[in-house]
Amino acid sequence: MEIEEVAAAEQVVTPWEVSAPDGVIDYDKLVDRFGCQLIDAAIVDRIAHLTLCPPHRFLRRGIFFAHRDLNRILDLYEAGEKFYLYTGRGPSSESLHLGHLIPFMFTKYLQDAFKVPLVIQLTDDEKFLWKNLTIAECKRLARENAKDIIACGFDVERTFIFTDLNYVGGGILGITPEDHIGKVSFPPVQAAPSFPSSFPHLFPGNDQLRCLIPCAIDQDPYFRMTRDVAPKIGFQKPSLIESRFFPALQGESTKMSASDPNSAIYVTDSSKQIKAKVNKYAFSGGQASVELHRKLGANLDVDVPIKYLNFFLEDDDELDHIKKEYKEGRMLTGEVKQRLIAVLSELVARHQRARAQVTEEMVDAFMAVRPLPNMFG
Ligand code: TYM
Repeated sequence: MEIEEVAAAEQVVTPWEVSAPDGVIDYDKLVDRFGCQLIDAAIVDRIAHLTLCPPHRFLRRGIFFAHRDLNRILDLYEAGEKFYLYTGRGPSSESLHLGHLIPFMFTKYLQDAFKVPLVIQLTDDEKFLWKNLTIAECKRLARENAKDIIACGFDVERTFIFTDLNYVGGGILGITPEDHIGKVSFPPVQAAPSFPSSFPHLFPGNDQLRCLIPCAIDQDPYFRMTRDVAPKIGFQKPSLIESRFFPALQGESTKMSASDPNSAIYVTDSSKQIKAKVNKYAFSGGQASVELHRKLGANLDVDVPIKYLNFFLEDDDELDHIKKEYKEGRMLTGEVKQRLIAVLSELVARHQRARAQVTEEMVDAFMAVRPLPNMFG
């Protein structure tokens, strides 16, 4: 108990750092400390019922596991009121890793299921402030990342993608990055899109429209602040739907990092690279020898291939079967990894095909400051 206390006290989850020294993030404690709620089976059923869509595997499997005021959004939706979705990305590197895809895949499902508009913020200014990048490079990375986001399949009729340097800088807040007024100025920039008045071309005269924000739980601190401020400035508090982290290949004790290519699978990886990374680096919960493994089975709590399959293998029955066989020692780590390599190679190849179809004109179309006449249609 005492050990658990110490370990949990040391886990750090902020927008800039995620670490769990004992290798396992204690999500219950995190929810408790942050003051959000857990998503239970009743909420999942309610979403399925309201949208008439089968719940996404990220919901079925508790990957999106926490929320703030989600029931309020669902109550209003049931009563015929709409809302909008808001999510984002800090374009710090050329290519996204699979963890970055999680909220976008899920947001695409929410957009299709609820038929609502979506705004996507690319915080190129954040990366200018925190990383040692030039303005031109931040802008270029934002455009490249936008292509990966568009490749997730968003509907241009319902989606507005904007970069802070172009949209916020020149418009609503009048911040110019050359001023470098400091990192203190950034949190309100991430907060502003939670309020419909930030988008006069989309939501004119609709200042009380509700906002739902899908993200991983690392972004929660920004929106805790936003929710504190909202009533004071006459706006609705945004609601949140938050996911667990897709772990690094080495496990939850380390973060996937752009500077360590062996810590993560990137959307630009070839199937050869995926195969090599999974085989070499994916932390195994299997036993040291085949004999021991047959006898004791795998420890699924720390096994990275199982964690990855939990995110990306669609078939619930197959996943259950693999878990059972592996846990009871009938399946070996090598066999689980082989299945994972096939799943990830297919996913990444599909993403690469979709991204190759995204043209500069399409990026311009998503980023055009324009009304979206059929955004609730
Ligand atoms: P960024 O670029 O660090 O991350 C983009 C989105 O991916 C989520 N994420 C993950 N999800 C699952 N597993 C992981 N390992 C993982 N790593 C990152 C993040 O939670 C995020 O949703 N400041 C933000 C950009 C931003 C934003 C927003 C995000 C601006 N407005 C509104 C969410 C909602 C950032 O740098 O995200």
